[in-house]
Amino acid sequence: MQTITRLTMLRNAVDGFRNGGETVALVPTMGALHEGHLTLMRRAKEEADRVAASIFVNPKQFGAGEDLDAYPRQLQRDSELLESEGVDLLWAPPVEAVYPAGFATTVSVGEVSEELCGASRPGHFDGVATVVCKLLNQVRPDLAFFGEKDWQQLAVIRRMARDLDLVLPYADAIRGVPIVREADGLAMSSRNAYLSESDRAKAAVLPAAMKQAVEAIARGADVASALEALRARLLEGGFESVDYAEWRDGDSLAPLDRQDANARLFVAARIGGTRLIDNMPAA
Ligand code: PAJ
Repeated sequence: MQTITRLTMLRNAVDGFRNGGETVALVPTMGALHEGHLTLMRRAKEEADRVAASIFVNPKQFGAGEDLDAYPRQLQRDSELLESEGVDLLWAPPVEAVYPAGFATTVSVGEVSEELCGASRPGHFDGVATVVCKLLNQVRPDLAFFGEKDWQQLAVIRRMARDLDLVLPYADAIRGVPIVREADGLAMSSRNAYLSESDRAKAAVLPAAMKQAVEAIARGADVASALEALRARLLEGGFESVDYAEWRDGDSLAPLDRQDANARLFVAARIGGTRLIDNMPAA
């Protein structure tokens, strides 16, 4: 695996693949890789000849007072993991290569960015859209893979790619990959590493309470009451606060008040100071 930190070298490497007639998939990450990320790499490998992973802890998507400085950085371990997955290229640019002095452009996607995590983390999706736009232009992949763990992020990226006519060869070039979970149901996340042992054990109430709510709604329970019961169960189970618990259309993210084949449950809640997010489809 080649590790590349300069854009000219990246372009040469990707052109080399492409001139040989090979397709290239990009998997953007912020590192601290876990099985969720590695599943994206495997999916990418199944669908493209070459896989490029990126690791960049993007300062523009962290708000003031968020965990930018604390975010786990372990490039050596990550590159060994990528190597063992057969990833061909690691793009790991320094911050100055992505945001040089004078950088002044922001990609801001309306509507799908505004609610849920967009409301509780103002500016977050502008940071995500800006960096993903750049990464897609830097690597110019045929396909790019993102996790459904960050369902709203995936919706924002798809909207941006359509709205800006980003040069991607297929209409479905932005691929979503289902959430990878721990044995107790907790969605894998680099931020799970922040949890104390006891909070980590308690955090499993999140997917359990979500599953209960999804099933209650499928049986005809009132949506507002099911969401209220979900909040209460999280707070009783050791979460200190619930940023949101919402039942929405999976494509438009518009609120829904009843069971629907395309509905999804979205939750963000805090435990031990760590904010966890999860989502689940209607049962
Ligand atoms: P990061 O949190 O490192 O996640 C990188 C990719 O892995 C994202 O597409 C995310 O949805 C996916 N992922 C994380 N946990 C997952 C899980 N348990 N199951 C399936 N997929 C999972 O998301 C980001 O980085 C950044 O916002 C980024 C897109 C790289 C832009 O900076």
